[in-house]
Amino acid sequence: MSQVHPCRRTTRPGSHCTCGSFTKAAGAWGEFERTHDLTDITSADFLSKVGKKTKVLARLSTVAGEKGASDTVRDIRGFALKLFTDEGNHDIVGNDLPVFFIRDPVKFPSLNRSHKRHPQTNVADSSMFWDHHNNNQEGIHCLMQLFGPRGIPASLCNIGFFGVEPDGAFKYVKIHFKPDAGVTTLDDKEAARLAGEEPDYHVKDLYNAIESWIPRKPRLTASTSSMRPRYGAIGSSKHSDYPLVPVGKLTLNKNPDNYFQDVEQAAFSPSTLVPGIGPSADILLQARMFSYPDAARYRVGPNYQQLPPNRAKYVYSPYQRDGPATINGNYVSKFTSEVEEADFEQSRELWKIYLKAGTDQVFIDNVSGHLKKAIPEVQKKTIKMFARVDEDTSNRIEKKLSEQDAGPDHVKAPNDAAGSSPAFLHLFYTLARTYPFLNMILNRIEVDRMVSLKWHH
Ligand code: HEM
Repeated sequence: MSQVHPCRRTTRPGSHCTCGSFTKAAGAWGEFERTHDLTDITSADFLSKVGKKTKVLARLSTVAGEKGASDTVRDIRGFALKLFTDEGNHDIVGNDLPVFFIRDPVKFPSLNRSHKRHPQTNVADSSMFWDHHNNNQEGIHCLMQLFGPRGIPASLCNIGFFGVEPDGAFKYVKIHFKPDAGVTTLDDKEAARLAGEEPDYHVKDLYNAIESWIPRKPRLTASTSSMRPRYGAIGSSKHSDYPLVPVGKLTLNKNPDNYFQDVEQAAFSPSTLVPGIGPSADILLQARMFSYPDAARYRVGPNYQQLPPNRAKYVYSPYQRDGPATINGNYVSKFTSEVEEADFEQSRELWKIYLKAGTDQVFIDNVSGHLKKAIPEVQKKTIKMFARVDEDTSNRIEKKLSEQDAGPDHVKAPNDAAGSSPAFLHLFYTLARTYPFLNMILNRIEVDRMVSLKWHH
């Protein structure tokens, strides 16, 4: 086994994304509507209320064919969905076949390259294709699906998609999306004709289906099945063993205004998850969780999350910032984490050590010397935090602060410190720089404002 980091091995240049050029795709905006109760399985907000609608972006792609390739070629189709939920983005990155070729992620670049162009001739090569599969026979089920009647979709309005089954001993959920109008496919002969005469057959069809006077908007039913998987990514359990539970409806109803902006720059990842839905321990999925964002940083750029197709309504990593093509301005944060009493136990012991060693005053001076430049609302919260370590520590910091005569660093609180300040506080801060006694008054004003994690969407 080579020593190359798995993340690199699984992405460039051998992934679906070949050195910056994406596979051929069509894309559309739409909405996901929750139709059935699922609260026994997840607390995810977008699945919490029957009737709740969530904006989505879908990218329906080939695996082998790059831009300019013919649509009606036998190939797996990707169906990547981004749900812009109130808790952040949630991506579902599935395929139109319910099974996959490999269960070991390290084989992914070889699998993918074997379905693309030969490095010498720059033409797809059957020997290379089959040589790969001859040597990696765990993918036989997927091969049989690909070469069966379902291998060439007739229309992107009539394909469904699936998450692959996880590998492991726990109870998992597999996601299915099935087109309400049924799955339709082409035979080899018709597909070959269209590949020559109408190479963009699928992309045109999806666009026109949404735009037509009598629209044929793709509508899919989402279902889940709870399962105890046996085969991992290469298996597909019988629905009779694991019945499908309906979840919601997906409708694609709006074509992108600019293809490159909305579809080429879209970046999906199975690691984009909302609270209430977690990844399984399946190693294929674990590898994908790193591989997609790595590809996106390379293909689109480090700030791809800020672009229109990827920008979340709410973010949970407000401290991620700067770098080329930053366009989101200043982040606004109110970042809270869950803490327990145990988190303060060791600090309490350390405080006792300081007291014993006589370094307690140094600590108080150091903290207050730094904290004195923060705005009062931040100071208040820091004092409260130290009270959880020890009341005496907190009182001493507060007292020391009241003796200081410095104002806050910025006369107007920057957004990223604690949210923008009301105008009257702004005036106070300004005056406090000249009249230090005002700091004491400010210290008495408790301002407890929750600042949303909202980005402009
Ligand atoms: C170890 C296994 C896999 C690895 C390492 C992997 C990696 C990747 C990478 C790097 C991309 C390009 C992403 C980009 O350029 O933004 C990609 C695209 C894609 N993959 Fe995979 N993949 C794996 C297996 C799968 C499986 C099992 C599925 C389906 C169940 C899948 C579905 C897709 C789809 C739909 C896309 C296109 C996403 C888009 O439209 O942006 N992949 N994959």
